[in-house]
Amino acid sequence: MRKVYLDNGSTSFPKAPGVGQAMLDYVENIGCNVSRGGYRSSYSAAEKVLYAREKIRELFGFDRDNNVIFTPNVTFGLNYIIHGLLKRGDQLIISSMEHNAVARPAEAARVSGVSLEIAQCDESGHLDTEDFKRRITPETKAVVMLHGSNVNGSLMPVAEVGKICSEKGIFFIVDAAQTAGVFPINMKEMKIDGLAFTGHKGLLGPQGTGGLLLNEKLAEALSPIIEGGTGSSSDSAVMPDFMPDKFEAGTINLPGILGLSAALDYITEIGIDEIRSEELKLAKLFMAAFENCEDVRIIGPGADEERCPVVSLDFPEMDNAEVAFRLDDEFGIMVRCGLHCAPMAHRTLKTFPKGTVRFAFGHWNTTSEVDYTVEAIKKIIAR
Ligand code: ALA
Repeated sequence: MRKVYLDNGSTSFPKAPGVGQAMLDYVENIGCNVSRGGYRSSYSAAEKVLYAREKIRELFGFDRDNNVIFTPNVTFGLNYIIHGLLKRGDQLIISSMEHNAVARPAEAARVSGVSLEIAQCDESGHLDTEDFKRRITPETKAVVMLHGSNVNGSLMPVAEVGKICSEKGIFFIVDAAQTAGVFPINMKEMKIDGLAFTGHKGLLGPQGTGGLLLNEKLAEALSPIIEGGTGSSSDSAVMPDFMPDKFEAGTINLPGILGLSAALDYITEIGIDEIRSEELKLAKLFMAAFENCEDVRIIGPGADEERCPVVSLDFPEMDNAEVAFRLDDEFGIMVRCGLHCAPMAHRTLKTFPKGTVRFAFGHWNTTSEVDYTVEAIKKIIAR
């Protein structure tokens, strides 16, 4: 049976050329740690890690290699920020489209005495910026917001929110889980103080990689929530106050980072604009097939709007889980269904608790795969 992978919102597959080889090369031929060995291969591995930081810094329009922190994924990065920054009495604003990666640590912070405000989005998943502005108070310390929705592909107006936050002296942190590698992000221009990204989705790198980019002000304001060995200032009882060591306790994921580094070379060579326009072309082609179809509801932004290549469908007359199962079972098409770890987003989109069937297009998908998937859906709803 033909196989079509449409779960790139969960993780991209396949990975960029060179990723597997770079990881294997590290495991089989390099193997040593960094910042913990006084020999040449350790120094050379450290140089490779530094080079990966440089590439990430450049990709996101940032200015300091040392303020690029490696984390196991975007969720860790968001936890570092929410729990390391906010204290009892501070106010945090998030949006009503957040994934649990933001919503759960935000709720835990609320339970610990942080005041939590949820800026409302409309039924297509777009932020109501007036509602957002009304929630800002003198106690607002941070705004943490996703860039693109993992449920329906809607985009938040990050440049507009960044401008408002910068004028009011509020830290602005962006969850770029769905947009890193597929949407141009410039931290300086968008006035983003902290960016959390994952390496295994749009960046086409391995799982277990991701990071945080923190500007000086945010890096200083943030306390490390994970403490331990850094290979530096070992005589001190507390974590170093310099970057990246302040936030990198324990051995980093070296095979993963070198794999991610190879993926970054590939992304840079192809270009984000090219990647984005190809993926969007597929998402639009797919949506166009269901525009006037009563049996299928497209949840969120339409084909003519700016969006991520993540499309959620609801089948009003059917069980969405059954549609997803049959897509795989009868046609070999892999999708995700349910709440996508984002119940608040589904409440906003009025698709809670049923959820949706999500088709997340990626760099390797083709128009022939889109046509095949459209035909498969039409066959399923006809029976
Ligand atoms: N957050 C990922 C998804 O949306 C795992 O599937």
